[in-house]
Order: sequence, then C-alpha cells, then structure tokens
Amino acid sequence: MLSEVLKRAREFEAQYGPYIADAQRPAFHLTPTIGWMNDPNGFSLYKGEYHLFYQYNPYSCEWDTMHWGHVKSTDFLRWERLPAALAPDEEYDRDGCFSGSAVELPDGSQLLMYTAVRRALSAEGKVEETQTQAVAIGDGVDYVKLPENPVLTEKDLPEGGNRHDFRDPKMWRAEDGTWRMVVGNRTPDGSGAILLYSSCNGVDWTLVGPVDASHNQYGLMWECPDFFPLDGRQVLLVSPQDMSPIGLEFHAGNANVCLIGSYDEATNTFERESVQAIDYGIDFYAPQTLLTPDGRRVMIGWMQNWNTVGGKPRDIRWFGQMTLPRELHVRNGRLIQEPVRELERYRRNKVTYQSVLVGPEMTLHGIQGRTVDMTVNVRPATQEPYRCFQVNVAKDGECVTSIRYKLDKNILKIDRSRSGSNADIVHTRSFLVPPSDGKIRLRIILDRFSVEVFVNDGEQTASMAIFTRQEAEAISFEAVGSVLMDVEKYDIVLDQPE
Ligand code: FRU
Repeated sequence: MLSEVLKRAREFEAQYGPYIADAQRPAFHLTPTIGWMNDPNGFSLYKGEYHLFYQYNPYSCEWDTMHWGHVKSTDFLRWERLPAALAPDEEYDRDGCFSGSAVELPDGSQLLMYTAVRRALSAEGKVEETQTQAVAIGDGVDYVKLPENPVLTEKDLPEGGNRHDFRDPKMWRAEDGTWRMVVGNRTPDGSGAILLYSSCNGVDWTLVGPVDASHNQYGLMWECPDFFPLDGRQVLLVSPQDMSPIGLEFHAGNANVCLIGSYDEATNTFERESVQAIDYGIDFYAPQTLLTPDGRRVMIGWMQNWNTVGGKPRDIRWFGQMTLPRELHVRNGRLIQEPVRELERYRRNKVTYQSVLVGPEMTLHGIQGRTVDMTVNVRPATQEPYRCFQVNVAKDGECVTSIRYKLDKNILKIDRSRSGSNADIVHTRSFLVPPSDGKIRLRIILDRFSVEVFVNDGEQTASMAIFTRQEAEAISFEAVGSVLMDVEKYDIVLDQPE
C-alpha cells in the first residue's frame, strides 16, 4: 500500500515531469524528473541493472522535505525514470528521507538504508533534528518500510556520539556474506567522524567502531561517506561541511575529501597515507560508488555545491544534476578518475588535428558544440616555455567558460563568470597541477549545462555547472607564447550505442 505522501509525489512527477522537454536537460547527465535533486543515493547493482536514487523534492527547485527519486540504467548514460521510491510518510522520518544506500539481498529483494529525520522544538525554543537510520525493502520499484524502524538510533552511537548529525549510511556486502555500513557522525570536539557497523541481515546492526575522524582538521560534520578497497589500498570518501581552505587543495565550505590508506579489517584500523581533494572544480559533492560486475569501481557525484545553489536561473523546472559516472583507480598514491568507458559507445563525428600551432585566439573547423568529448594534448612549440594556454568553450559574443593552464605557476583555473549566471557566487576555481615541462592533457566533457575537465588521464578532475544559452557553442584556443596542440573531438549522441 502506497502512502498518500508517496502517491502525491508520484502523481506530481508523472503529471508535470513530461513538461520538461529533453532539449532543456543535459543530454547524458542525470537530472531530477522534476524539481530539486541533491545527493546520489543507493547507487548500486540490482538484478543486473544499475539503480540510482537521489535526494529529491519534486514540488519545487529548492531543497525541502526530502524524498528519494529513482532511475535505472544498463550503461550509466541512458537512465530510465522510475516512480519516486521513498517519501517522508512515517513518524520517524516525517521531516525527510535523507541520503543512504541500496543493496540486493540474497532473496532477490532490494534493501534501501536511509537516514530518517525528525525535528522537534527544544526546551530553549530551538529546532532540533534527530537523525536515525531506517530500512525499506522492495522489488526495484515499490518499497515497504520495516516495522523495526528506525533500525539504528542514538543508542547505537559510541560514547560522545551525536544524535543530531548521524546520517548517510553506505552499506555493502562483506566477503563472508554479512553486511557492513559506514555512517557520518561527530566526535565530542564537534567535528566529523565515520562510524562502521556490521550486521547479519541488514536490519540488526552492531557498532564496530570509528574508522576515521576530522579532529577539526578537514571541516566539521563529515557527510556521505564511502569506504572501499581499490588497487591494493583502502579509500575513504567524505564530504565535509564548514571546511576552512587549505592552500589550493581544499576550498572553504562544503568540500570533498579522499583519504587513501591501508585497512586492517580484523582490528578495524584505517591508517591514512594521503589526503586529497576528489574534484577540484566548483560543483561536486556527496559522491557514491558501486562495483560493476566486471570489477570496476564507479563513482557518481552531485554536480552542485550547497554554497552556490542560490545562483540558479529563475525559470527552470529542474535543478541539480549528477556528474558523469567515473571509473576510479589508485595510481602512485592518488585517486584517478576517468569517464565510464560506456561513454565511448556514444561518440560520433570524430574530428582530429595534429600539432596545431596555437598563439592568439583561434578556432578550428569542426570543433564546436555543447555535447562534446574532446581531448587536447599540449606541449611547448619551441625551447622557450610558454606562459599560458587556454581553452574556451560554450562561447559566443557574450558568454564563455574557460580552462586556463598557467605553466609558470603550475595552476589550472576554471572560470564560468560569463556562463549564464547573474548571481554573485563562486565562479572560478584554481588548483595546482604537477609541474611539467609544458605538457598537459585535458579531456573536456561538455553537456549543455556542465563542463567536466579530466586532467592528465584523470589524475585530477574539475566539474562545474553552467547555464549558458545553448546557442553559445563555439570552442577556441589561445596561448601566451607558442604551443603545439593535438585535438581529438567527438559529439556525444545518445542514439543507439555503437
Ligand atoms: C549532503 C546532505 C546529506 C543529507 C542530505 C539531505 O548533501 O546534507 O548529509 O543526508 O544532503 O538532503
């Protein structure tokens, strides 16, 4: 039996979702059926298909009482829309079904594990939130919340844990067939911690202990953890709130952090070896990963940031999009990200150029568009090092989004100041790239409302949402000094895969 709250959401999205024309959405990045979307939830394999849920408010393009939207795919690019999966319709989750994860149970059903939110007025007149973890089981479309809910509450926290910030369970199946889950929480110093739990059935959980904590070094609350082995190391992904900037590695506000280390499961000891940003762009938060049947660790993130969500156009019917799903590796102690290889099936109209001499701004015949997969390989043209090299995309007389490499400072800067936004928000981001003799490789993925840059075969990425009018489709290149450049460019067309 569907609750009235869920029925209303499903009717609303079925009635009004179709009013959003395909051309008003990204071509191959996921957007909500209608209204608001934030974090990816429940990114997982179920009965051979990739399922993705998301934090969802169908009724407006603002964050409000969270539901779970739902889509599925066989190739990470073409998503089939399914009806909303969860709505805040129980006493324990009446103020929102927050982020969580999904797994396939041995009996073939799908289990959703999410954070249930309840607000109440404290004795001092302050609104206080209590966050617990709850479970719903279903068949890939309809879900029933269990009578045992909430299955994790304050009593499952370690001493000094925090019931107001206890959220975003990420669950997986351990090798012995039992279940594990990491959840965000806080330590008594007020900053973030990640807790590990274990379970035999996905419903009854025992605290194993903390995995790692911020100790006020990397922001306050740590949201949306993920924790997995990769290429012989262990990776912990977290999205800290209230981060103070650290050099050009971590920006202020809602940041994203990848901790790489070793992990001893027997003693639950995670030893950090390195800490880095996951994505160096403007819009990236709350990523989640899954393991594909062929063993790839694939990550998807929210291609937005809480600090810039105020800057949306007034007349839109959807807000919030996901990044391209990315294949992850650890190489030389760093996280490597590359677009899922499925994207290559949708590459059309190949255009290539070799050793083009770049100086003052120039365009190249056949190189333009807004749904594009383009790789640019750059090197100095002479013994003399060049000063900087820049790619401009989504460009017309007024608009431009740029990616600039300053060789002398080893800085890559993305700039969307003239990309369709009238809001006075963060529009540029600079980050350090490893020193080189002037060689850099940029793979740039454009999709109508976004730009994702993959630097040096995925050693770094930078993502940003743009709202530039679609007619602005010129791409140009420029350098101070002289540069030789190879270009390989495809249109991405989601017709039939090749
Ligand atoms: C992260 C987050 C999560 C929470 C959800 C609420 O973006 O704040 O911690 O579960 O969004 O929508």
